[in-house]
Amino acid sequence: MNKHLPNRARITGTGSCLPERIVTNLDLEKTLDTSDQWIRERTGIIERRIAEKGESSSTLGAEAARRALTAAGEKPEDIDMIIVCTSTPDVIYPSTACFVQREIGASKAVAYDISAVCSGFVFGLSIAEQYLKSGRYETILVIGAEVNSRLMDWTDRSTCILFGDGAGAVVLKREESEEPVGLLSSHIYSDGNRAEMLIVPGGIGRETISRQAVEDNLYTLKMEGQATFKVAVKKMTEVSLEALEHNNLTKENLNVVVPHQANRRIISAVAEKLKMDSSKVIVNLDKLGNTGGASIPIALDQAVKSNRIKRDDLVLLTVLGAGLTWGAALIRW
Ligand code: ACO
Repeated sequence: MNKHLPNRARITGTGSCLPERIVTNLDLEKTLDTSDQWIRERTGIIERRIAEKGESSSTLGAEAARRALTAAGEKPEDIDMIIVCTSTPDVIYPSTACFVQREIGASKAVAYDISAVCSGFVFGLSIAEQYLKSGRYETILVIGAEVNSRLMDWTDRSTCILFGDGAGAVVLKREESEEPVGLLSSHIYSDGNRAEMLIVPGGIGRETISRQAVEDNLYTLKMEGQATFKVAVKKMTEVSLEALEHNNLTKENLNVVVPHQANRRIISAVAEKLKMDSSKVIVNLDKLGNTGGASIPIALDQAVKSNRIKRDDLVLLTVLGAGLTWGAALIRW
C-alpha cells in the first residue's frame, strides 16, 4: 500500500530545438561598431542562433516538446497541461501554448502562456509543481521558447549582441515517493518597481500600435545593462541560498548548477559566491547567447544529454529577468 506516500514532481524527459542559422560576433562586426574581442571579454558570447522566416516560439517550442516527450516515453494525448514560458509569443493572442498544443496533438491538455521573461521557465516549473504535488494532474509539459531576435534593435550594440533564439522543454510527472525526489522546491519573486530596467516599451494596451511608435523604435528591447548585471548577481545568489536552506541542504551538496545564460561574468560571480567549481556549472552562452526563458531548459537538456546531470544529482536552477523577476529551483534528479 503506497497511497499515503507524498506526491513528487519529477522531470522524466528533456528536449530542445535551435534554429539552424548561426550568427557569429564576426558577422556582427560587419554591421555594428563592435568587435569579437569586446563581446567575448564582456559577455563570453561567441555566436548565437537566429530564427529564419517561418520559425517562431511555437514551431521551436513544439519541436523541443516532441523531443522531451520522446525522451520521457510519453504520448502527446496523455499531457494534462502545457505551459509555454515566452516573452516573444507568435501573436498577441491566442497563446503560443495553444499553437503548440495543436502542433503536437495534445488534445486533452489545457494550454496557456506565462510571461516572466528570462525567469519564465522557473516560474512555469513552480506552477507545474503545485498541480503535480496537489495530485490534480499527472503529466505537465513546461516549455521555454523565444525568438528574441525579433525584439532587437540591430543598431544598438549594447543589447543586440547578447541575445539568441531557441526552445527547451521538460515533461514533469507526478510520482509517489517517500524520498524527496524530483523538484524539491521552487522560489519565485518579482519587483515591479524596477519594471523599466529591461523593457520593450511599445505595447498594445496603453495605446494603439502606430507607425510612429514603430519608427520611434518602441518595439525593441531597452536595457540598463550595468544595473541589471549587479542585481542579477545579488538576487541569483540570494535565491539560490534560500532554496538550499529551505531543504536543509548546503552549497557543498550541489552537484550541478544550471544558471540563466545572460553573461559569463554574471555566472562566474554567482558561482564564486556559491563556491561552485566551474566544472559543475553549465554554460552554453558561448554558442547560444541569451535565449531568455528558453535558456535554462536548453542548458538543462544539453547537460542531461551530455551526461553532466545524472540520476540523484542535486541540481540548482537560478535566474533573473525583466520585471524584475527572479527565482531558483532545486531538483533531486
Ligand atoms: N561593442 C563595443 N563596445 C560596446 C558594446 C559593444 N557591443 N556595447 C557597449 N559598448 C561600450 C559602451 O558604449 C561603453 O563605452 P564608453 O565607456 O565609451 O561609454 C563601454 O563599452 C562599456 O559599456 P558598459 O555598458 O559599461 O559595459 P558592461 O561591461 O556593463 O557590459 C553588458 C555591458 C554586457 C550589457 C553587461 O552590462 C550585461 O551583461 N548586463 C546584464 C544583462 C542581463 O543580465 N540581462 C538580464 C537578462 S535579459 C532579460 O531578462 C530580457
